[in-house]
Amino acid sequence: MDVMRIEGGNTLSGSISVSGAKNAALPIFAATLLTEETCVLENVPNLSDIRFMAEILEHLGAEVEQTGPTTWKITAKDISHRAPYDLVRKMRASVCLMGPLAGRLKKAEISLPGGCVIGPRPIDMHIKGFTGLGMKVDVDKGYVFLDAEHACGNPIFLGGRHGSTVTGTANVLMAAVLTPGKTIIECAACEPEVVDLCRMLVSMGADIDGIGSPTLTIQGVDRLTGCKYSILPDRIEAGTFLIAGAMAGENLTVTNLRVADQAALIDKLKEAGVPLTIDSESSITVSKSSVPLIPVDVVTHPHPGFPTDVQAQMSTLMSVTPGISIVTEKIFPNRFMHVPELQRMGADIAIEGPNAIVKGQQKLSGAPVMASDLRASAALILAGLVAEGTTWVLRIYHLDRGYDKIDDKLRAVGAVIERLPEKDMPQDLNPEAA
Ligand code: EPZ
Repeated sequence: MDVMRIEGGNTLSGSISVSGAKNAALPIFAATLLTEETCVLENVPNLSDIRFMAEILEHLGAEVEQTGPTTWKITAKDISHRAPYDLVRKMRASVCLMGPLAGRLKKAEISLPGGCVIGPRPIDMHIKGFTGLGMKVDVDKGYVFLDAEHACGNPIFLGGRHGSTVTGTANVLMAAVLTPGKTIIECAACEPEVVDLCRMLVSMGADIDGIGSPTLTIQGVDRLTGCKYSILPDRIEAGTFLIAGAMAGENLTVTNLRVADQAALIDKLKEAGVPLTIDSESSITVSKSSVPLIPVDVVTHPHPGFPTDVQAQMSTLMSVTPGISIVTEKIFPNRFMHVPELQRMGADIAIEGPNAIVKGQQKLSGAPVMASDLRASAALILAGLVAEGTTWVLRIYHLDRGYDKIDDKLRAVGAVIERLPEKDMPQDLNPEAA
């Protein structure tokens, strides 16, 4: 396994570019199962999760080819309806196979995804949606069995304890586009990644109204064509780089983003006093403030609220902002795996239920820390950029799931960061050394 070594205290200047969105690309890859024609997908990020989804589609029988650094060609002509546990268990987003397989083949057999460190990842709302479409749904021996032979369009409410469900909306949507009749999804997720999926489906001939709103109206069609579609920029990667600029930037310009997707984060960064300029609709320049920032409270919500996927990164910024900030996680109440690791670097954070009470310090100190989930790993990288001394981040395979060459991108704007084999880490520093 590799580790990341970061020397803190360097300034980030210049231009850093955002890749395509992981959380759009994954359901969009699954959506290629809805047609026997060829789909060409562009601006696909170079991530382990993408390669893994490609492997699953191939296992199902699709022809999958990466024809360029960010371009994939997928033809799902003769496909199986069954995705086994040994494939599905490694990636939660495999749950998105259910909808397209049930929509196209009228049956699906998909292993239940495991949970993960950010909390249990139930799929009761997905199942509620499939049942609402008239599917027979059985859960047995760790598999979900869908029989969509008699499925038909219907009104479905997809709101749960934590609001809407992103992949639940994607799943039900992908089933509904090939289900006879009219389906209305109320309390649909409005995340930009769901909008991107809708736009890709419409380009294939799907009939969807209300795109971007909490009410999606889908008129089922008999078949869908192939498509050529470019994935939208990753707003979470962009947000991570904006926070990096707020911590260590001197005119760090984040490009290839969509300003419209950053409203909640921009609002909080401005409230904190971060010097930030919107250069265009696809570029923002951000710098570290010459005076201490103002501590701000953050509450995560479904889009367009503050994204849970930027919560850990924002907590890192607040951990070096003198004063008290309260970060409340309403989507995944246990999503604080980054906190014990930040505490090892000197952060003063107390967890009270879904709240992280952050007492901002002037300084963090470099230390060996352990990545745990994708966004917690990013938060540790950010902390390492400003910590005094050297930070070693272990288990960075978590990072590779969702960030396309983050070390190369940060190094190109001045960070001292390198990826090393774990054996090159001083053994007395490695908590995992035998
Ligand atoms: C998607 O996960 C994203 N993943 C997550 O990003 C993101 O954090 C999350 O949406 C929220 O924005 C992908 O798109 C691949 P949800 P998803 O269903 O769809 C509960 C990252 O770091 N819930 O919107 O699994 C659930 O437990 C990842 O890129 C149910 O109770 O999230 C959570 O509390 C992490 N029953 C809340 O709803 C269900 O059937 C929102 O979950 C489904 C969800």
